[in-house]
Amino acid sequence: MPEKETLRLTPRQEDIERAAALLRAGELVAFPTETVYGLGADACNGTAVAGIYAAKGRPSFNPLIAHFPDAETARAYVEWPDLAERLAAAFWPGPLTLVLPLKPGHGISELTTAGLDTLGVRVPAHPTAQKLLRAFGGPVAAPSANPSGRISPTTADHVLAGLSGRIAAVVDDGACPVGVESTILGLVEAPVLLRPGGIAAEAIEALLGAPLPHQAGDAAINAPGQLRSHYAPKASVRLNAEAPEPGELFLGFGPRDGDLNLSPAGDLAEAAAHLFGYLHALDARGAPIAVAPVPEQGLGAAINDRLRRAAAPRD
Ligand code: TXA
Ligand code: MG
Repeated sequence: MPEKETLRLTPRQEDIERAAALLRAGELVAFPTETVYGLGADACNGTAVAGIYAAKGRPSFNPLIAHFPDAETARAYVEWPDLAERLAAAFWPGPLTLVLPLKPGHGISELTTAGLDTLGVRVPAHPTAQKLLRAFGGPVAAPSANPSGRISPTTADHVLAGLSGRIAAVVDDGACPVGVESTILGLVEAPVLLRPGGIAAEAIEALLGAPLPHQAGDAAINAPGQLRSHYAPKASVRLNAEAPEPGELFLGFGPRDGDLNLSPAGDLAEAAAHLFGYLHALDARGAPIAVAPVPEQGLGAAINDRLRRAAAPRD
């Protein structure tokens, strides 16, 4: 792919207009959301969406999430059961993606959906994402803005370290506050958790008034976020470590302190916000990484999911 200079844009309105114009021209623009930076393209432009796969080096065409400024615009593209309305009212804008059947005549590129007849729809809460989505005026397909299989980006510097020269621009608005990707909920039949993420499964169960089944590992969608080895640092990762072994860097949590500590206070939201940035920072030091145990409840489920994938054997 020919290298081109990647613009670093600000969240000011004139730069947002410029980013929206690039999207309209079929270019790739990375932008902050409350979870991670996304790599955006016009979801209805197949050539533009193909550019996402090429820039990330995604091995195959896997479904991408379409981003909208509000529930009303999302509803124009997908079937909208009463449960979607209740979930949207409770959690949007915010880190929840709903997978729903597409409506006829939707106009979304087959490369966005990977040929499925469903679409993952998300309304991000980040004010800069909101501004960009409104300025663009259509659905924006966006996976996380990292080379396929690597650690997700929570700053514009992470985006540029992985994708500089392969994308038109990145809108730089600092660090992402949530730090792990959205929770993905399948609503095609009975609700099913497809990926733990920034909204705790317990919060969704409270709204449903029933336990939320998790999609079994092997049945999971064949996509990077679902692959066992993903979010991988270059170094090896060892989980549930009480202490580092000689030569290891230690990523602490709570009272188990280390080279870095996800949250000295043991706060899971703070730990999620630090997770990918600290993995990037430790990986840059080039030694194996041991990670302290993180409790499995609330956002801990998403943190442990990403850590297990980072530690999984590489193909
Ligand atoms: O927080 C997030 O969700 C971020 C930001 C940028 O919005 N995006 C993100 O996208 O994490 P990505 O491509 O890294 O992960 C999207 C996951 C994929 O693993 C895919 O399996 C799932 O969403 N997905 C998308 N569309 C789907 C569909 N129609 N059915 C089932 N799973 C779907
Ligand atoms: Mg990803």
